[in-house]
Amino acid sequence: MNKITIIGGGNLGKSIISGLADSDLFETNNITVVDKSKYNLIEVKEKLGVSTSQNIIESIEAVKWIILCVQPRQLNEVLKEIKDKITPNQILISTVTGTSIEEINVIVPNNKVVRVMPNTGASKKLSMTCIAANEDVKAELETVQKMFDTIGKTLIIEERLMQAATVLGASGIAFFLRFLRAMIQGGIQMGFHPHEAQIIAVQTAIGAATLVAENGTHPEREIDKVTTPQGCTIEGLNEMEHQGLSSSVIKGVMASYEKINTIK
Ligand SMILES: NC(=O)c1ccc[n+]([C@@H]2O[C@H](COP(=O)([O-])OP(=O)(O)OC[C@H]3O[C@@H](n4cnc5c(N)ncnc54)[C@H](OP(=O)(O)O)[C@@H]3O)[C@@H](O)[C@H]2O)c1
Repeated sequence: MNKITIIGGGNLGKSIISGLADSDLFETNNITVVDKSKYNLIEVKEKLGVSTSQNIIESIEAVKWIILCVQPRQLNEVLKEIKDKITPNQILISTVTGTSIEEINVIVPNNKVVRVMPNTGASKKLSMTCIAANEDVKAELETVQKMFDTIGKTLIIEERLMQAATVLGASGIAFFLRFLRAMIQGGIQMGFHPHEAQIIAVQTAIGAATLVAENGTHPEREIDKVTTPQGCTIEGLNEMEHQGLSSSVIKGVMASYEKINTIK
């Protein structure tokens, strides 16, 4: 039963499959990918050596874990297709944005469900993946966490925070990248060629994030270390704040959160 099927070998599915195939959690021939697109299947089979199928029903036979990795609008169709075939000992892991465990259990009432929310860092094994499940999944949660540890960092959260996790972690990639773009534009205005400005800004962003990640410090502590009294850094920082940097980021995060709570 140590077999896993991933339904949906698209952008995210491929990253998850790559992490699982590189790990020692499953033999590659015990990992099956199902997708409508034969091109996606050829790609994962050739690159990662996993099994592939275009038949959902056959692919979930005798597997313990089923990862749902299709678009939200495609989920109901997949659940309806598997509902009469799936057995109660099979665990569903849903990556699908905005669909609750309760909603999934309306169609497949007898299966344990784990929700996961990775981000696109997964393709570089640098995902932040938030994981949520009900009490009944306690025994299996550690294994699910190990699966997603193969594509980055994981955190177990309460399901009520899953929408917030989507904004902070998944949309967060776009938010940080927009700040990065602004830094590059500033660099170009000061005289750097765009590709030089990008090299400097990207490496500086990696350095800043790594300082906080590895030192475990609050960002403001690391800011203090580069802020000379009456110097150029504090001048720039204060001007950014006068222009509303922190306030606009918080307002943007909250606007995104309000929006996600209205999407169904
Ligand atoms: N991308 C991310 O970073 C990210 C992060 C967090 C969560 N998510 C969630 O992860 C899910 C997948 O996202 P994605 O970006 O990987 O989507 P995607 O690239 O569109 O991949 C989904 C794949 O599943 C296939 N598919 C759909 N219905 C199928 C069916 N009935 N049988 C077999 N294959 C089927 C699709 O084929 P067709 O294209 O032919 O329909 C497509 O190849 C979404 O629900 C998204 O909300 C994504």
